[in-house]
Amino acid sequence: MTTRAALFIGLSLAATMVSAQEIKPGSAFLSPEMLRQQSDEARNPGFLWVEQGGELFSRRSGGAPACIACHAGPERSLKGAATRYPQVDAASGKLLNLEGRIEQCRTQRQNEPAFGYESPELLGLTAYVASFSRGLPMAVATEGAAKPYLEAGKAFYERRQGQLNLSCRQCHDGLVGEKLRGDTISHGIGTGYPAYRLEWNGVGSLHRRLRACSLGVRATQFDYGAPDYLALELYLAARAKGLPLESPGLRR
Ligand code: HEC
Ligand code: HEC
Repeated sequence: MTTRAALFIGLSLAATMVSAQEIKPGSAFLSPEMLRQQSDEARNPGFLWVEQGGELFSRRSGGAPACIACHAGPERSLKGAATRYPQVDAASGKLLNLEGRIEQCRTQRQNEPAFGYESPELLGLTAYVASFSRGLPMAVATEGAAKPYLEAGKAFYERRQGQLNLSCRQCHDGLVGEKLRGDTISHGIGTGYPAYRLEWNGVGSLHRRLRACSLGVRATQFDYGAPDYLALELYLAARAKGLPLESPGLRR
């Protein structure tokens, strides 16, 4: 047995002791230095993506109107928008996260090809739009059309998975505050994303982080934007209700 496998089996035993506790934002688990850096726009490299997103937002692309043509004064008109995603799209009944909503404007209102998940353009625009909600409380809808998605997300969160047979919950509720490979295990909410991660040497989406956790337990990694991760994202956002949005977060 590898040390890593042994470590995980140890963890899975400890994780059976799940206790009800107050959900804390990702920043509560950062070192004091990383927290200072995250809060400082001049030192948080995530703001370079925000800046690039801002440039793209104002730029016309071919014959299509720029984003800003329809979203004038985005610091006001899009303030708080990110706190309400994922949400069910009224027209299609599908669950959309912020990336999905932006791609929808890109393809349906600009009539341009989608940027693609994890492209620098979509990450920049998502980080830019999210930056207008920095510090505002998460406020996703969880009733009505959102409810079945929320329930699917919760079931995913609680399901044991992968070769290591661990659920999200076992780590992100049961082992909060414990160390794992140099990280302090947090409540696993998504309010810091898109985030700059040192390991990525760049900004990545929440789904990139979820893929890393899936891989960590040797479970199926779903595609970026997959319905399974969207439902999970909604559940994480519901867990985070009332907590401040922190994107662009800074992570190890
Ligand atoms: C031709 C006009 C138009 C263009 C161009 C456009 N949008 Fe939109 N956008 C809209 C409309 C209208 C809505 C409201 C859609 C709805 O609620 O169904 C919207 C909704 C949004 C929302 C969600 C706001 C909320 O409060 O939920 C975001 C974010 C957004 N757009 C970002 C962008 C970005 C980024 C671009 C450029 C890539 C863009 N839009 C281009 C018209 C446009
Ligand atoms: C073996 C334990 C383990 C399991 C199981 C696990 N994670 Fe994680 N997860 C981590 C560690 C370690 C980190 C990095 C430290 C942190 O932020 O919690 C992390 C980070 C995260 C983050 C980023 C938090 C932030 O603020 O940067 C999210 C979101 C997350 N996990 C969600 C999930 C979800 C959803 C699942 C189930 C699909 C899952 N994790 C399964 C250990 C785990």
